[in-house]
Amino acid sequence: MNKAVILAGGQGKRMKADIPKPLFKVLGEPMLEWVISACESADVGDICVVKGFRGEMIDEYLSGRYKTAMQSERLGTGHAVMQAIPFLEEDTSGNTLVLCGDAPFIDPETIAGALSLHIKDNNAVTVITAELDDPHGYGRIIRTDKGISGIVEQKDASPEQLAVKEVNSGAYWFRTGDLVHLLGMLDCTNAQGEYYLTDTVSIALSEGLNAGAYRSPNAEIIRGANDRKDLLELNNYARTAVIEKHMENGVGFVCTDGIIIERSVEIGRGTEILPGTILRRGTRIGSNCEIGPDTIIENCRIGDNVSVNASQAYDSEIESGVIIGPYVHIRPDSCIRSGARIGDFVEIKNSTIGEKTAVSHLVYVGDSDVGRKVNIGCGTVTVNYDGIAKSRCVIGDNCFIGCNTNLIAPVKLGKAVYTAAGTTVTKDVPDYALAIDRGVMKVSEGYTLRKLKIKK
Ligand code: UD1
Ligand code: CA
Repeated sequence: MNKAVILAGGQGKRMKADIPKPLFKVLGEPMLEWVISACESADVGDICVVKGFRGEMIDEYLSGRYKTAMQSERLGTGHAVMQAIPFLEEDTSGNTLVLCGDAPFIDPETIAGALSLHIKDNNAVTVITAELDDPHGYGRIIRTDKGISGIVEQKDASPEQLAVKEVNSGAYWFRTGDLVHLLGMLDCTNAQGEYYLTDTVSIALSEGLNAGAYRSPNAEIIRGANDRKDLLELNNYARTAVIEKHMENGVGFVCTDGIIIERSVEIGRGTEILPGTILRRGTRIGSNCEIGPDTIIENCRIGDNVSVNASQAYDSEIESGVIIGPYVHIRPDSCIRSGARIGDFVEIKNSTIGEKTAVSHLVYVGDSDVGRKVNIGCGTVTVNYDGIAKSRCVIGDNCFIGCNTNLIAPVKLGKAVYTAAGTTVTKDVPDYALAIDRGVMKVSEGYTLRKLKIKK
């Protein structure tokens, strides 16, 4: 069976941070996750991640999804793969893909294309290469008329070799059994005193095995990040690519300033995305919506013809025809049913807002079930927390909640209940009733004149 080893042991000193480089994010996902998903899309699901610097953070991120191997000292890419030998020896009959955890744009097409060539040419190793205008820093692919003869690192290369523009992507296919054998033959007699995985190519040839190079038609696969400037470039590249994909699908953008859409987001045709909109993982938006400006949506299902203006929504469902904003916060586990209107300075948490209900301004609805065609007046608060426990409020269909009503949970309002403005509701109210809780208003005439000792 085919396997993958992903190298994620490096620190990335130039990032100036205390986390392993492959955990730095591109469009909201760690670079390591991009590499893993490329493997999975190419049907290579048996994966071992080699961790090193702050390896426990890699463990925490993977939370047992994949096998790992620990590289306790950073002695080079060859040494990193050696740590995965027990994983390789579990089954040496197939092929092993080796990838760098900090080059996120490796794609399933390249992985599959390289594997076909690897098998067709009966290679022990097939290195994936790309042609770059500026090959600086990469290992150069050295070819003779018989094919690839080796890979030379920047620091070990002659001026003539430095002129070569075909470079090593850091991704390879190996025959698993041959990889184990070749790793045993690596040494560290080079400019950096490291075990170079790249040396497997020349060693294989000297052993009479075949080695090949697969030149990827997509040079972007090689992009990696050594510092934060590179990481910004990766983000910009991925961001533009995602936006272009949505435009091809009929999503509108008049200006892409500040728009960040993660890879997994789906958007229906005719929807317009306005500047400053961040759409995160798990979000699915229907057709003909208007999203933004200045909006964050994370893991929400949104129907058609929805407008979300200058608002945030997390882990919730928003049905068709809903109008939200400006300045609304929809917190997790909420459901806003079709045709509802959520106005400015409203927070909704773990609640259902029924069809065509209006929650227009300055309201907190938490842990509540609100029916259909309800009107919730300005300043209403569901008092859902008594300092120890959270309780629910239930508001029936067609209720009219007067301004500044406090609903002390747990409490249940039946159908078509009215609450008078300023009422504090402390017990259940039956269908069609009015709840009113007010002191008797007194008017003290001439009060101001007496207080300020003035005349009219
Ligand atoms: C490596 C290749 C180079 C190629 C380039 C592509 C070697 C000797 N050189 O160089 O030919 O053009 O990648 O990006 O392989 N890592 C470990 N443990 C280590 C060293 C590295 O896990 O001891 C991991 C890093 O986290 C990274 C990957 O291996 O994910 C590549 O390491 P890096 O140091 O960036 O290799 P380069 O010098 O860039
Ligand atoms: Ca690198």
